[in-house]
Amino acid sequence: MCGIVGYIGERNCIPILINGLKRLEYRGYDSAGIGIVDDDSCLIVKNKGKVSLLEDKLESLDLKSSIGLGHTRWATHGIPNEINAHPHSNEDNSIFLIHNGIIENYQVLKKGLMGFGYKFLSETDSEVLVHLIDSFTKRGHNLTKSVQLALHEVEGTYGLAVISSKEPDKIIAARKGSPLVVGIGENENFLASDVSAIIAHTKQIIYLEDGEIAVIKKDEFTAKTIYDNAIEKEVHEISMTLEEIDRGGYAHFMLKEIMEQPESLRNSIRGRIIQSEGDVVLGGLTDVVEKLANSKRIIITACGTSWHAGLVGEYMLEQFCRIPTEVEYASEFRYRNPIIEKDDAIFFISQSGETADTLAALREAKMKGALVLGICNAVGSSIARETNAGVYTHAGPEIGVASTKAFTAQMTVLLLMCLFLASSKGELSKKQMQDILSELDGIPEKIEKALKTNEEIKKIALKLKDAENFIYLGRGYGFPLALEGALKLKEISYIHAEGCPAGEMKHGPIALVDENMPVVFIANKGNSYEKLISNMMEVKARKGIIIALITEGDTHVKEIADFVIEIPETLDVLMPFVASIPLQLLAYHIALLRGCDIDKPRNLAKSVTVE
Ligand code: F6R
Repeated sequence: MCGIVGYIGERNCIPILINGLKRLEYRGYDSAGIGIVDDDSCLIVKNKGKVSLLEDKLESLDLKSSIGLGHTRWATHGIPNEINAHPHSNEDNSIFLIHNGIIENYQVLKKGLMGFGYKFLSETDSEVLVHLIDSFTKRGHNLTKSVQLALHEVEGTYGLAVISSKEPDKIIAARKGSPLVVGIGENENFLASDVSAIIAHTKQIIYLEDGEIAVIKKDEFTAKTIYDNAIEKEVHEISMTLEEIDRGGYAHFMLKEIMEQPESLRNSIRGRIIQSEGDVVLGGLTDVVEKLANSKRIIITACGTSWHAGLVGEYMLEQFCRIPTEVEYASEFRYRNPIIEKDDAIFFISQSGETADTLAALREAKMKGALVLGICNAVGSSIARETNAGVYTHAGPEIGVASTKAFTAQMTVLLLMCLFLASSKGELSKKQMQDILSELDGIPEKIEKALKTNEEIKKIALKLKDAENFIYLGRGYGFPLALEGALKLKEISYIHAEGCPAGEMKHGPIALVDENMPVVFIANKGNSYEKLISNMMEVKARKGIIIALITEGDTHVKEIADFVIEIPETLDVLMPFVASIPLQLLAYHIALLRGCDIDKPRNLAKSVTVE
């Protein structure tokens, strides 16, 4: 969480920082601030609320500087207000700092510093860092050394950047657990939490690793460890374009990303299927294929929507590969001393590749000797780099906080990995592989068809927008989808929603059903169709409002349900790819009608880099 951007060069940094912060707002948006060096002294401007409010404030000030830092916050310690917003500065205002992460021992450090007369203005853990650095500069160390020495005392996670008006030719940045990239330009350099903030200016990127500190000048970059060992860093040329991360005429990133799914799915599949051979090609797994095929168990670890994709993956892996598979919440897995065997393969699924819980679980599993594989969207992200091998989802940048196209891309990659594994284990014949791959190849067109339900869904949303609760029910592959449908609705519309296996309803949730309760059924014609109809009748008998996702042409459910949404027929395993679309659209339109801030729902952030 929290977005960081920095600039040093010859241009005025203010518009560069503001534009960068706007691109990073998905990481947090409860307050924002910038710090610059102006006439040999530091100047900080910050504001509660979104970056646009900070921008308004800055407009009236007409500031200029060729060095500065910007921050957009997602509160952990201290409420969202102007005082807790970053940057934080030392007492004489000669040093300021921005921070993403959590300083776990901040109270001990704070107490010590207060003993030396330091005064704290905010409730944040981050402020302790700037005073700690200040205490080392007061003992005669330069800024770089002071940051290094301060970080020796810090426990926790950080992506941070510091500027001192006494050394206005440099930005010092350091990373442990929170991502930071440096962008290399001509007579100017940049710093950011991720490349989207600086892509408009450079494609030459250096990824900082944990324990590293960077000294960034306008025409020079050096990296060392916090223990002062020099490091050679590789410069990566990235291919992401600005157009890819713009809204492209849509009212919201979420809608754009929903609509992009035929294309994003094609990108996830591209070059990975040899239809005539019934073969899947995953270059990222070549080195580990034998170990993977010999795995006795697969554990899938992720959070939120990625966890739901993992659940779909479990069903796929057990159906086609016959390998026992478990799905774990990363936040639980990490802290319960899980049993991990050497012949376990553990998949880590993450859109951002930076989710702190997933990253911590990955490090734990790696330490215990398991084969760790990544399924990430963000190229070059921490999880992608720290896993033994993996497959990118190639969905393109996902900016809307509610995950949509990343979900369908994750399921696509999971299916490809599953088929790759099934064929190397001899679990599926060439003909079976060809049949599934040919259907997968046609899924983008079926998604295009599913997107045409948009107008129908708008009408349903209008009827249901004032509901206070929703239930989502499904069986088999429909169950993870019910969970995902409910998560989409609650996170952007703030309506309480629960997903549940349809068969479990009678064991408790049915008590909630009355004439005010909308119940969404994933009721495609698949393995559990008849059983699902029985569950639907149970809801109808209690006067619940039934919204059913049905297979095109199904007249039976039409007679039972209050509203139906028709989706094209496909294989059971591929149904979630198509059925996700109306669920995403339903959540979108309900949230829109309720006047919610769809791309920046309250209390959330796109990339959750705190545990
Ligand atoms: C929901 C959503 C979150 C993320 C979760 C994991 O729409 O976006 O639940 O899925 O925070 O994020 P990643 O996939 O980046 O690890």
